[in-house]
Amino acid sequence: MALRKLVAGNWKMNGTRAALGEIAAIEAAAAGAAGIDVAICPPFTLIAAAGQQVSKVAIGGQDCHHAAKGAHTGCIAATMLADLGARYVIVGHSERRTDNGEDDAQVRAKAEAGIAAGLIAIVCVGETEGERDEGRAGSVVGAQLDGSVPPAATAAQLVVAYEPVWAIGTGRTPSLDDVAEMHALIRAKLLAILGQEGAGVRILYGGSVKPDNAAALMAIADVDGALVGGASLTAAQFAPIIEAAAGA
Ligand code: PGA
Repeated sequence: MALRKLVAGNWKMNGTRAALGEIAAIEAAAAGAAGIDVAICPPFTLIAAAGQQVSKVAIGGQDCHHAAKGAHTGCIAATMLADLGARYVIVGHSERRTDNGEDDAQVRAKAEAGIAAGLIAIVCVGETEGERDEGRAGSVVGAQLDGSVPPAATAAQLVVAYEPVWAIGTGRTPSLDDVAEMHALIRAKLLAILGQEGAGVRILYGGSVKPDNAAALMAIADVDGALVGGASLTAAQFAPIIEAAAGA
């Protein structure tokens, strides 16, 4: 089943108000791309202003707290993202799993908080280079999905992003065969966890997606779009990736 593709940009800790012009330029590029969804997840500080630049492009957060409110200094609740008009929230990005020690149970709780706030949760999974070298990529990602995917989620509430840790920000990507194998494995696991809803969950590939490899990656079965870091920061780089998705 061909699902509607989603191209999501993860700006990470990049961008001040001076970057809002890029959001407007990305909106212009996305407006011409029929039949796909486009999102930008800027830093929290830009969510409100970014929302004013877009109508086709959806805005998302890069993380949320698992609680709806309370004494959690410096944290942001999913309800706060929704209040600003955000439609998506990334949870369990490998940088948060590594830098902030987030485990699968926390990632699932954050995904559930996002869904409860009306957001679409983008749950990230992916193996390290050592795990791949040991032949454990499939089992590691399978275990992450078992622990991180909210078992009651519907296809409309959930996106999964497969991001091999060693491919993020490195300019390296797995072979197309390896991507195909992992996405097939993730699809099977989603069907096991969610039943038939698992057939409709979009599975994004992430990790050094660039204008020159986007079309080949998005032509793979069960690659339902891309989660893009560095190449989402400028419209010049992101627009060709949006076009590749629209043409796939
Ligand atoms: P990258 O980042 O495209 O810069 O490799 C992807 C991500 O971390 O989501």
